[in-house]
Amino acid sequence: MTSSIPLRLRPVVTFPEKPVALSDAARREAKAIVARYPEKRAAILPVLWLYEREVGEINLAVEREVALLLDISPAQVREVTTFYTMFRRPGTGRHVVQVCHTVSCALRGAGRVVAAFREHLGIDPGETTPDGLFTLMKVECLGACEHAPCLQMDDVQVNDVTPEGVPGLIEEYRAK
Ligand code: FES
Repeated sequence: MTSSIPLRLRPVVTFPEKPVALSDAARREAKAIVARYPEKRAAILPVLWLYEREVGEINLAVEREVALLLDISPAQVREVTTFYTMFRRPGTGRHVVQVCHTVSCALRGAGRVVAAFREHLGIDPGETTPDGLFTLMKVECLGACEHAPCLQMDDVQVNDVTPEGVPGLIEEYRAK
């Protein structure tokens, strides 16, 4: 689908944060994870993964709750959640498209692949489609430079991507 509205004129779409409603089992699991480490703060990544699995995203409420659990400040949690790009932030679409734009991929046409996603999804990198289905991102090397240009659709690596293949990828994931 091609948006007829120029990208720079489109309204910004925002999504509400999901509530933090952990099950009792998940709370027990979080405490068990923390207990495995000599210092609580060392458990931050596995605890965040657990919250992301349970809540569906890492939002401000999650960061506050994780800070309480680990006896650190929310700002210290934020330092971690903003450093790692793989965490799902509020407004992340059901499917995340991560197009590598590091040197090998850039030289072999990553820019044209990104342009094809922009055209067919009607969004810029860093944005989510209004229906909440796709988030488009440009990321650093995915470790498959010999198959440049490449990308990840959610957790699935896609190699040797062409701009012509982009519509088919979108339709495949739209149906998932
Ligand atoms: S430069 Fe794209 S995978 Fe390494």
